[in-house]
Amino acid sequence: MNFQPFTPPSRTLLGPGPSEVPPSVLEAMSRPLVGHLDPSFIDMMEEIKSMLRKVFLTDNEIIFPVSGTGSAGMEFCFANLIEPGDEVIIGVNGVFGTRMAEVAERCGASVVKVESEWGKIIEPDQIADALKNRSPKMVAVVHAETSTGVLTPVEEISKLTHEAGALMLIDTVTSLGGCPVRIDDWGIDAAYSGTQKCLSCPPGLSPVTLSSRAMDVIKSRKGKVQSWYLDVGLLNNYWGKGARAYHHTAPITMNYALHESLRLVLNEGLEERWARHEANHIRLKIGLSELGLSVASQEGHQLWQLNTVTVPEDVDEAGIRNGLLADNEIEVGAGLGPLAGKVWRIGLMGYSSSMENVDKVIGALKNLL
Ligand SMILES: Cc1ncc(COP(=O)(O)O)c(C=O)c1O
Repeated sequence: MNFQPFTPPSRTLLGPGPSEVPPSVLEAMSRPLVGHLDPSFIDMMEEIKSMLRKVFLTDNEIIFPVSGTGSAGMEFCFANLIEPGDEVIIGVNGVFGTRMAEVAERCGASVVKVESEWGKIIEPDQIADALKNRSPKMVAVVHAETSTGVLTPVEEISKLTHEAGALMLIDTVTSLGGCPVRIDDWGIDAAYSGTQKCLSCPPGLSPVTLSSRAMDVIKSRKGKVQSWYLDVGLLNNYWGKGARAYHHTAPITMNYALHESLRLVLNEGLEERWARHEANHIRLKIGLSELGLSVASQEGHQLWQLNTVTVPEDVDEAGIRNGLLADNEIEVGAGLGPLAGKVWRIGLMGYSSSMENVDKVIGALKNLL
């Protein structure tokens, strides 16, 4: 059989990720390879770290992209910080809180789940209650829950966590680059993200950062980190200061892409980028309400970058979603878990968050409905 080169269709990506990628990021990925220990590549790695510090708003020394998608960053945090028997409180209000609990259990943690209905935030009071009579090693919550479209107030939760003497971990896969994420101001000890959401880079890397407090905890571990690939000590021999030691072959091209996408984020300005996401979310909500549609997630805590839209009872959820793709080249997401069949998920992330895209999806929905 004679296989032909793959030519993807030209889609408008308005789902839960990946988002659209700016031309200069795609162009960066087509540049020639250098070796992963080439001095030019090492200089670029340093720039990636500096830019990540500005985007995560932190001075943390430990900051780099883990080679793998957002879930690899999640595993990195738990694998390094948790030892068998450690108690961890995890906020579960959607797919990714559920996944964190699963990953923590596999690391041997004793997990206390603090659950909210899907579409609602984890309330700081719920965490305060869970902390009573407990002294967990860590509290972990998803900042922007992509499966439901809510933004949990992690700053308040972090304060409670520190008062209880625990470490604070947050998932910023969907929040970073699309709304405020202030690692140092909020006292966050560990965070991971992903490239394919509001950073508008293809999937494949997971930026992570650890505070010095988290590093002290890791240095005093009783046993080795059970994952060789994700061991921060080994990874830091490659990403840290000084002589670089081979650990694994870094995905060169993905790092070119991340470098370019971070450069674009900082050139736009964080505040400006957040404001763009907010403005397009508001424009979308107005357009939806004119069609008699509304956002399903908790009022006052709705994500700007991911909008769960309630599907009216008499409307065929999958039919409309398929029509958007087949007739309009627009990808939106389906609901997951208890929200399956009940919502569409419209992502306005990074480069995809534009007035033109809002008008396009509203226009297409109007025709289909
Ligand atoms: C909030 C959140 N956390 C974690 C992940 C997992 O990331 P990945 O699919 O890149 O492994 C996702 C992916 O959608 C996510 O939205």
